[in-house]
Amino acid sequence: MQTIHTIAQLRSSVDQWRARRERVALVPTMGNLHDGHLQLVKRACRVADKVVVSIFVNPTQFGPQEDFAAYPRTLKQDSLKLAENGVHLLFAPEVEEVYPRGSDDTVRVEVPELSDILCGASRPGHFTGVATVVAKLFNAVRPHVAVFGDKDYQQLLVVRRMVTDLCMAVEIIGEPTVREADGLAMSSRNGYLSTAERGQAPQLYQTLQWLGERLSRGADYDGLAARAMDMLREGGWRPDYVAIRRGEDLQPPQAADSRLIILAAAWLGKTRLIDNLPVTLKDSP
Ligand code: PAJ
Repeated sequence: MQTIHTIAQLRSSVDQWRARRERVALVPTMGNLHDGHLQLVKRACRVADKVVVSIFVNPTQFGPQEDFAAYPRTLKQDSLKLAENGVHLLFAPEVEEVYPRGSDDTVRVEVPELSDILCGASRPGHFTGVATVVAKLFNAVRPHVAVFGDKDYQQLLVVRRMVTDLCMAVEIIGEPTVREADGLAMSSRNGYLSTAERGQAPQLYQTLQWLGERLSRGADYDGLAARAMDMLREGGWRPDYVAIRRGEDLQPPQAADSRLIILAAAWLGKTRLIDNLPVTLKDSP
């Protein structure tokens, strides 16, 4: 595996692959890799001839009070894991390489509506930062296909909408969430949890499952979501939201919708965790 830090080096490798008509996959990450990331890498290896993984802690998707400085940077360990998993190229640029005029003074990609709800309401500007850096990575790497996790479901929809609206020639694949044995979704932010909080953390997914079992066509979705928020509060969480939405666009479900998704974001101490559970309603009797 080659590790490179500049867009010029990246282009020359990818250009050679493309000239040989090889299919190129990109897995964008912020590093501190866990088995969730590695599942995306394995999928990329199955669908492409050459796999590029990017590791870049992107400043424009962090709010001023958020954990950009504290975000775990573990490039050495990450690079060993990627080499073991058959990755061809690790792209690990510095901030100046991605944002040569500074990260405040850059062209931005804004995905309306989808970026302003749920996590976007709690984290203003976050999805504009995500869409902007993913667009830059797509232009730098020029992949045929890119793999993202369902774990960040709203992010996946933002990326899909950007690709459609900007006519980007990249196929987007979503991979199911990888969980710890007790159900907690794997996340780089789980490392922030104290031992006691780590013991409590599976309650987020358990609450989604509780809700999932109670969903049926015509159920009082808002009432159920409010009860789930209360359950989290009783367990010591500070929920940002629990919401039951349509799978395709995260809008409130209509009577005919059967592909739903339950999404939640909640704080446990100083750590904000997110999770989601897709639910397909069976036809009414
Ligand atoms: P990061 O949080 O490092 O996640 C990189 C990719 O791994 C995302 O597509 C995310 O959805 C996926 N992922 C994270 N945890 C997962 C899990 N438990 N199971 C399956 N997939 C999981 O998401 C980002 O970075 C950034 O916003 C990025 C897209 C790289 C743009 O900066």
